[in-house]
Amino acid sequence: MAFPVIDAKQLVKQVTTSDHELTILDGVSLTVNEGESLALVGVSGAGKSTLMTLLAGLDVPTGGEVHFLGRRIDTLDDESRAAIRADSVGFVFQNFLLVPSLTALENVVLPATIRGDEEDWGRARQLLEEVGLNGREHHRPDQLSGGEQQRVALARAFMTRPKVLFADEPTGNLDQHTAAKVIELLFALNRDHGTTLVMVTHDPRLADRCDRKLVLDSGRSPGRPYE
Ligand SMILES: Nc1ncnc2c1ncn2[C@@H]1O[C@H](COP(=O)(O)OP(=O)(O)OP(=O)(O)O)[C@@H](O)[C@H]1O
Ligand SMILES: [Mg+2]
Repeated sequence: MAFPVIDAKQLVKQVTTSDHELTILDGVSLTVNEGESLALVGVSGAGKSTLMTLLAGLDVPTGGEVHFLGRRIDTLDDESRAAIRADSVGFVFQNFLLVPSLTALENVVLPATIRGDEEDWGRARQLLEEVGLNGREHHRPDQLSGGEQQRVALARAFMTRPKVLFADEPTGNLDQHTAAKVIELLFALNRDHGTTLVMVTHDPRLADRCDRKLVLDSGRSPGRPYE
């Protein structure tokens, strides 16, 4: 039976800016089952990144509910949500969020360190090789190109074999060849480890590879995710 890894109900996200209240998400519901891949698509400003931060427990909604691995997380405090993320979630963000003072290799190992796992340098090296970065292990982020930094972020997200991987434009800054390799890596993780994938993408090839797509339009999703 399909097990819902993420179940979001009527999510609303409002923020107060200096002069008015802005509704970024206006009643978005979705379910992602274990082992599925979901593409969040829609024009710039539609609310895709905002939705992903709520599904991943990085932020909490103004209204609605988020259930993650069977547990309601939108009512939990920051610390409890951080513990769930460290245990079960991998991230690849638009702005990478690499630690500037650490080398590529050290950045990849970091999630294992944070989680208290043994630091598996062999696995970290292998992941860097898989994203085409052998020879760059000891470079710091400021010594890498944007696309190379993005690949370090991907290798880092794979490090702890997360149950759910959230990726915001994972191929956004990459050339075609590297993008194709990264897509293969994402789906290999999905196939070999049953990792559930939730990704934001403007890349139709990547969206088409996903089991389902959810279209966001001005903070609304017209209906359920479709096949
Ligand atoms: N903290 C905030 N305060 C005010 N407005 C915000 C905030 N966060 C997001 N927004 C606005 O909400 C809308 C949705 O933002 P979001 O980043 O989720 O869009 P997106 O679909 O990911 O776009 P893109 O494809 O350009 O990354 C945008 O208009 C953005 O300006
Ligand atoms: Mg975005």
